[in-house]
Amino acid sequence: METEPRLIASPDHAVVWHQDRLYLLDQRHLPARTDFLALESAAATAEAIRAMVVRGAPAIGIAAAYGVVLAARARYAEQGAGWRTAIEADLAQLAAARPTAINLFWALERMGQRIATLDEGDPEPALLAEARAIHDEDRAGNRRMGELGAELIETPTEVITHCNAGALATGGYGTALGVVRAGFAVGRIRHVYADETRPWMQGTRLTAWELAESDIPVTLQADHAAASLMATGCIGWVIVGSDRIAANGDVANKIGTYGLAVLARYHGVRFMVAAPTSTIDLAVASGAEIPIEERDPDEVLACGGTRLGPAGVNARNPVFDVTPAALVDAIVTEKGVVMAPTREKIAALMAA
Ligand code: MRU
Repeated sequence: METEPRLIASPDHAVVWHQDRLYLLDQRHLPARTDFLALESAAATAEAIRAMVVRGAPAIGIAAAYGVVLAARARYAEQGAGWRTAIEADLAQLAAARPTAINLFWALERMGQRIATLDEGDPEPALLAEARAIHDEDRAGNRRMGELGAELIETPTEVITHCNAGALATGGYGTALGVVRAGFAVGRIRHVYADETRPWMQGTRLTAWELAESDIPVTLQADHAAASLMATGCIGWVIVGSDRIAANGDVANKIGTYGLAVLARYHGVRFMVAAPTSTIDLAVASGAEIPIEERDPDEVLACGGTRLGPAGVNARNPVFDVTPAALVDAIVTEKGVVMAPTREKIAALMAA
């Protein structure tokens, strides 16, 4: 019999299906509060993704997949055989929640394909099995990426990470932080510097909490402290996740990643992106085509809920940027590693 994960607040429980309901560890409140939000509809799931109760590309996709299960339950109860048409509106609502992370659209596409195969009758068991499979595969893929990424680190070193690409951002274990976990376990990573990641503070609030919970030594730094740290020579690698990788290997990730990659190249620090193949979007030729989400300027104008910017002054708040493939030393996926990514190498990986 399948056992359900229990509602215990931990980085590995960002998304939990428990007793027929979807629970999200509310990342807006971490680490001060560890509460779960219970969701019973696709609309509530879409709003939770938009509001960043759950965030991080793979975790958004997994939450949306469970959101489709909730939608199917409601539409089947309301409409019987008409559920298949009615659920289209729910899929569209989930897809509109955030624009950059391709994993959201990838998961919805996969759930849509499963819907297309279903016969008459209650769709919930089959769709729940598909959502659980997406979740389980993500966790397993992260373990594999951890091993592959850690193998690239030849000499024990210290690393910088940006944003949160950890268990909290995935089905568990993490992508970039999966590499950190695996690298720390075998002695190749000695210490992690986590950028605070203005303006939403994923580094301060999430990565620092997640690594501290795992007893991995972590030091926070202001985003703009990375250059002087690299100049000391103690950093061997920058390790980050991604929200979408274009067909040519350009990498969209949290705003500030591009700057880190430029700094890394100047200082001879290597730059690793860890992301599942569900993050690779062969439909976009280059990073220029990746939609970059702009969020509320108030996120920049305020800090910790206190407005700091003067009245009447606006702020720009693009929350992702694109790192050109030429600045990336390695893309680590569950299917294998691409060194110095090019369009041809990415195509070969995806075809394998
Ligand atoms: O705005 P967020 O917090 O959803 O942004 C998350 C990131 O940029 C992560 O680095 C990315 O999604 C990879 S998560 C494994």
